[in-house]
Amino acid sequence: MAASIIDGRAIAKKVRAEVAEEVERFKKVHGYPPGLAVIIVGDDPASRVYVGSKKRMCEALGIYSEEYALPASTTQEELIGTIRNLNNNKKIHGILVQLPLPDHLDEGEVLETIDPRKDVDGFHPISVGNFVVGKEAFVPCTPLGVLRLIKETGIEIKGKKAVVVGRSNIVGKPAAMLLLANHATVTICHSRTEGLPGVCREADILVAAIGRPEMLDGSYIKPGAVVIDVGVNEVGRTEEGKRILVGDVKFDEAKEIASHITPVPGGVGPMTIAMLMRNTMDAAWRQAGKGGCGCSCK
Ligand code: GUN
Repeated sequence: MAASIIDGRAIAKKVRAEVAEEVERFKKVHGYPPGLAVIIVGDDPASRVYVGSKKRMCEALGIYSEEYALPASTTQEELIGTIRNLNNNKKIHGILVQLPLPDHLDEGEVLETIDPRKDVDGFHPISVGNFVVGKEAFVPCTPLGVLRLIKETGIEIKGKKAVVVGRSNIVGKPAAMLLLANHATVTICHSRTEGLPGVCREADILVAAIGRPEMLDGSYIKPGAVVIDVGVNEVGRTEEGKRILVGDVKFDEAKEIASHITPVPGGVGPMTIAMLMRNTMDAAWRQAGKGGCGCSCK
């Protein structure tokens, strides 16, 4: 039987509605909205699109936002100075520096300048460390979205075999840690894993985040598995110039074997910004002090 399609657009909408409701509650309690600052350096077109969507999403949910569009010639000192000002800005509870940065900038130093209390991307080593040892921390948005999608299937994660294909700091590693925190038995694979199809075929939950178009065909899928495809690979353009996107999973084959599967587009993609709004909301509650929030900070 063909798999159920996990509708990322609908689930992202549900997350946004939850956050919008919380924003209202926060404003009633504190008299000001949560605030997010987004910094973009240079004019990478894809990054500009992402930053524009983040700003629009903040507006739609009642979150205050500031955008810092800095020229590609921005120096390390200027960028660090902008972040330090935002660390001290009481209206701002979350700071996001859009990646990638131009080559002359030191990404590590930039990310480590963000106050961990405002690190809504969860990229600061302090956030990563706290998360791994089970302390309160921000977790990167895409893996948070992956976890929410799995939970929405209603399938219990505890005790299941999960395989994550991809070991990036932004997706693969934190996705694996989240699954582990939810009591799955987790294997992390990558491009040099031997016998990759066989390892993936063991997975009750398979997360593909390797960035190779349609690499995981039907031979990688265990019957009845939950398959989450994080890949967004452009494989061409339509005559109208629209991007043709495919995931890391060969959808048509996998959907005949899996129990649940995310499409590309319309699966993980819409979740990332929704979870950024979620993290910004949590940052505001935490910085305003405990109480009334119903988030994980208590
Ligand atoms: N560039 C691509 N994805 C992301 C993300 O999740 N956060 C940031 N800051 N930059 C990105």
